[in-house]
Formats: sequence, structure tokens, C-alpha cells
Amino acid sequence: MSQTTHSRYSACAMRIVYVVGARPNFVKMAPVISELRRRIPHGRHALIHTGQHYDRLMSDIFLEELGVPAPDHMLGVGSASHAVQTARVMERIEPVLEEEHPDLVIVPGDVNSTLAATLVAVKLGMPVAHVESGLRSFDRTMPEEINRIVADEFSEHLFVHSEEAIENLKAEGVAGEHIHFVGNTMIDSLMAMEPRFRDLNVAERYGLQAGDYLLVTLHRPALVDGPLLPDTIEALGRVASELPVLFPVHPRTRKMLSTVELPAGVQLTDPVGYLDFLSLETDARAVLTDSGGVQEETTHLGIPCFTLRDNTERPVTVRVGTNTLLGLNPDRIEEILRILDHPSVASEPPGLWDGSAAGRIGDVLESSTERLSVEHSLIAR
Ligand code: UD1
Ligand code: UDP
Repeated sequence: MSQTTHSRYSACAMRIVYVVGARPNFVKMAPVISELRRRIPHGRHALIHTGQHYDRLMSDIFLEELGVPAPDHMLGVGSASHAVQTARVMERIEPVLEEEHPDLVIVPGDVNSTLAATLVAVKLGMPVAHVESGLRSFDRTMPEEINRIVADEFSEHLFVHSEEAIENLKAEGVAGEHIHFVGNTMIDSLMAMEPRFRDLNVAERYGLQAGDYLLVTLHRPALVDGPLLPDTIEALGRVASELPVLFPVHPRTRKMLSTVELPAGVQLTDPVGYLDFLSLETDARAVLTDSGGVQEETTHLGIPCFTLRDNTERPVTVRVGTNTLLGLNPDRIEEILRILDHPSVASEPPGLWDGSAAGRIGDVLESSTERLSVEHSLIAR
């Protein structure tokens, strides 16, 4: 845990850098940027986009729909192996952070851009705040698990969205004063969008009826980079004879699907924009996924979610009752139909997934800034 404090911390002229790079980052960070801009109108708010994701449907459409101002710095790192992509972000972000000399660097989630930005910032002596801290799958074969552990280890402010995350951090020896249970900023974004997607009826564009299709999104390497993907498509074909399947395909998955034959009733599309995806989620009979964010959004929306993984770093979604872990096992996909015939009743959504998480982050930063200002003025006397 970094104990860094920063001599330039001062409330009204605070300088903040926000780092984003991949699709879920935009959704998690948008409400934080908007809230802190509102609270600190005379501060410097610099957005760095690493360019980890770059297709319009994986990047720009999110910034536009979420009303995020154009990034101040585009690093353009693109796709590469883990080491090369991480190293490119590190190389390119270092001079930008030196130029911006922020009082705080805010990073979301668990992608390679998160890891790289954290390492560079902390070595420059800049305090880091981690949004969506403390999640653990306890599976270190997942690149995201490594990224989360490093981001948490070196962050000054750990913003968590569930009780488990607090327990995980405490079990790793993190002092309570660094952990802030603020809620889920991804749900802030979803709730802010609600009036815009509720009546969109995007399903109709695909010839589908609300409440009568399975929405699918899959992109984890353990599933899509090997032989399990063709098995998954075959299993989806068996489901599609009873429940049509719509599968907006992540670009990583698209590369692996080129040789796979598509069964009747399974529609593939490009990834869809955020508003369209929320509309499709809301109207789905159920969702099959390996996405972290989609497990959370379906929990808020009360839509049955089936997760094609052996574990989840979001056990709260299973406890609430919307999420069923199928395991990394395409043979189990057909069980979805049977389970949907006997739906369990979901309990209340998790605490603080209420649309106000970014406001709580603002409160924490404001009070820590005030505390530091008082400490500095005492030292100066
Ligand atoms: C990354 C994150 C993952 C997150 C996911 C969200 C890491 C290690 N992984 O996985 O945690 O859940 O984003 O979607 O950071 N590609 C394109 N266009 C793009 C982006 C990617 O074609 O705009 C293709 C490239 O062929 C690339 C592949 O997708 O090699 C994978 O992209 P990458 O960002 O490395 O990992 P993701 O699988 O997207
Ligand atoms: N999403 C989207 N279009 C899609 C698939 C997902 O807008 O075609 C959104 C989804 O609503 C959620 C986020 O992307 O907000 C989740 O990102 P992803 O699944 O890529 O990453 P993960 O959450 O697994 O890290």
C-alpha cells in the first residue's frame, strides 16, 4: 500500500488525471469525471485514453453516448501481447503524467491499461485512486486478477462496490482507512442512461421480440481462444431451437469465429453501442456471458444471467440470485432453458448500487483533500 501524499494537494485548483483504455473503463469512469468536474470547476481534469480499444464500437461510441469530453491525450497503444501493450502504455503515459503533474491519478477496473498507469504514476510519486477495487476471482491465470492485485497494492484510495471486496482487501492486509465502500459507478452510468434506452426496442431491429431471446457476449481468453468456442456455438444452436440467440461479438472473439459454422437461430452482430446493449439486456429473456460488467448490469436490471466461467470476482451477483455460474463448460448451456422454466426470485440489489457512487467518491476525495490541506498548513506554520 502506497503511503504517498502530495505536496501540491489543494482543494480548488486540484489537478486530476483520469486513465481509460478499454470498453468497460469508459462506463466506470464517466460518472466519476462528470462528478469531479462539477465539484472542482477550477481544477484541471485531464483524460488520458491509452488506445487499448480503438474500434469505434469499442471506444468512441461510449464516450459520445456517455457525454465524456474528448480525451486530452490519446496514447494510441493498440493491440499487442500483454508485455508489449503494457510496456507501450507505460512508455507513453510517463511523459504525459510528468507534463500534467496531477495531484491524483484515477484508474478504473482491471485491464492492462489500469496496471500500466498505476505502476508509472506510483513511481512518479503520484497518488492513485482505484475505482472498482478489491475484486478477486482467486484465479491468477486470469490477466485481470494480476492487474487488480497490482492496482490495489499501489493505490492510496481504494473505492469498492461490495462487502466481499472489503473482506478481500482486509485479508491482504490493507488498512481500513484506505478502503471506501462507495458503490458501483457502472450502475451510476446505467441509471443515468435509463430514460434513453428503456423504450429503444433494439431487439426489433434484429427481428426479435422483447422477452423472447437469449443475449450472448463472450470474450475471455479461457473460453474464446481455444476449442471451447466452437462447442459453445454448437450448444447455442441447440438453445436457439427454443429461444432465439443474439450474439454481439467482441473483436477478440470475432477473430476466432471465422471458421465456425453458424447454426440456425443464432445471429451474430458486431459489438453494439452502450445504449443499444442496455436496451438488448433489458428486454432479453436471459443473458449468457463471461463479462464482468454484464453480470453486474443484469443484477441491477433483474435479468437472469448465466456466466460461462468457473469463478466470478463478483459473487454478490450470485447471492442476489440473478447470476448463475455455469462453469467453463459449454455442455451446460442447454440447462439455461430448464432453469428459466423454474426461475428463482432475486433479492434486493446489492447495497449502494443506487446511482450515487460517483458522488460518494467525490465526498471521500473532498474530505481527504481538506484533511491534507489542514495538515500542510499546520506544517507550514
Ligand atoms: C480487454 C481486457 C479485459 C476486458 C476486455 C473488455 C486486458 C488484459 N484484458 O480484453 O479484462 O474484459 O478488454 O472488453 O486488459 N481488438 C480489436 N479492436 C479493438 C480492440 C481489440 O480488433 O478496438 C482485437 C485485437 O485483435 C486484440 C483483441 O481484440 O488483439 C484483444 O484486445 P485486448 O484489448 O488485448 O484484450 P480484450 O480481449 O479486449
Ligand atoms: N457492452 C456494450 N456492447 C456490447 C457488449 C457490452 O456496450 O456489445 C457494454 C456492457 O453494457 C458493459 C460493458 O460493455 O457496460 C462491459 O464490457 P466488457 O464485457 O467488454 O468488459 P468486462 O466487463 O468483462 O471487463
